[in-house]
Amino acid sequence: MSTIPDLLSDFSLAADNTLGLPGRAARYARIVSAERLAALAALGGRRFVLGGGSNLVLSGDFDGLVLRVAIPGRALAGEDADAWYVRVGAGENWQDFVQWTLARGWPGLENLSLIPGTAGAAPIQNIGAYGLEVSEHFHSLSAFDMKSGKTVNFDRAACRFAYRDSVFKQEGWHLDGRFVITELTFRLPKNWRPATAYGELAAELDARGLVRPDARQIADAVIALRRRKLPDPALLPNAGSFFRNPLVDAGTAARLLAEHPDLPRYPQPDGRVKLAGGWLIERAGWKGRDLGPVGMYEKQALVLVRRGPATGADVLSLMRAVQDGVRRKFGVDLEPEPVFLPSP
Ligand code: EPU
Repeated sequence: MSTIPDLLSDFSLAADNTLGLPGRAARYARIVSAERLAALAALGGRRFVLGGGSNLVLSGDFDGLVLRVAIPGRALAGEDADAWYVRVGAGENWQDFVQWTLARGWPGLENLSLIPGTAGAAPIQNIGAYGLEVSEHFHSLSAFDMKSGKTVNFDRAACRFAYRDSVFKQEGWHLDGRFVITELTFRLPKNWRPATAYGELAAELDARGLVRPDARQIADAVIALRRRKLPDPALLPNAGSFFRNPLVDAGTAARLLAEHPDLPRYPQPDGRVKLAGGWLIERAGWKGRDLGPVGMYEKQALVLVRRGPATGADVLSLMRAVQDGVRRKFGVDLEPEPVFLPSP
C-alpha cells in the first residue's frame, strides 16, 4: 500500500464519464492542488489525466493511475488598457467559469456557453462552438510535467491549436498523462466584438429580435440552441459530438458537391474543406438509429447516446458501423472526437 494520502485502489470510473460506461482504474487520485503531483509522479507506471469525463469513452478497465483534476480557483489576474486577464483553476466547471466571466462584465467566451467539462480540458481539444474556438481568447496555461517534475508554462503558440486539436493531442500527452494542466489564463479584449456569423446563432438572435446583442444575450441564445439540439448528459448519457467534422481536400469536396448539391461545407484557409459529419451520418441512414443499447441522437446525428446499460464494446461497434456507412456512401473517413481509455 502506498503512503500517499487519498490514493484509491480499484476505483469505479462509472460516475466519472458522462457516457456512464463501466470501467475501473487500478489507482485513482483526486487532485485539488498542484503540490500533490510531485509525489504521484514518483509512482511511475501508466497514467491518465481526467477532467469532467465529458469527452471520454471507457473501453474497459485501466491498469494505471487516473488523476482526476479538481483544482479550484478563478480570479482577475491582471488588466491593461486592452484586455482583462482571467485566471482559472483547471478543475473548475467550464460553464460556471464562462457565466462568471460574463457576470463580472468580461465578455468573450459567451459562444462557448454550456459546453460540458472542466476548464483544464478546454485547450486540449480546443473546444469550439457557434463560430468560436477557445484558442481565440486563450493566453497561457501552467502544467505540471510528470516526467521532469517541473511546472511548465505554455503560451498560445506553444499550444499549437488547430480544429479540435492542440500540442497535447499532437504529442499524445493526453493519452500518456505527461502533463497535468493546473491553471489557465484567458485574455479577454476590452474592444469586444460579437461573433454572430454562425448561421444557426444568427438565426436565433434574429428570431429574438436582437440586432446588436450583448454578450449575455448571445450566451442565452447559445444555451437555448444547445438545449434544443444536444442531449443533457444527466438525462441521456453522451460525450457531445462523437466524430470530428471531417476535413477533406478540395477535389473530394468538389466530387461530393457534384453528387450532393446541398452538402454543408466550410472552406478552410489551407484549401481543405470541412464537411458536416452530422449531415453525412444522417444521409448514411444513422440519424436516430440504434445498435444495441447505443444510438446516434435523433436531433443531432453527430452525437452518440447511451439508451440503456452498455459497455465500451457497444460504443465501439456503433462507431465502426457508422464509419463504415459513411465511408461506403461518401468515401469519407470519420474520426472519433473523444478520447478512449484504455486506447484501443
Ligand atoms: N446537420 C445535419 N444533420 C445532423 C446534424 C447536423 O444535416 O444530424 C447539418 C446541419 O444542418 C448543419 C451542419 O450539419 O448544416 C452543422 O451542424 P451543427 O451546426 O449542428 O454543428 P456540427 O458541425 O454538427 C459542431 C461542433 C459542436 C458544436 C456545434 C455548434 C464538432 C465536432 N462539433 O457540430 O460541438 O456545438 O458545431 O457550433 O465540431 C462537441 O464538440 O462536442 C460539440 C457539440
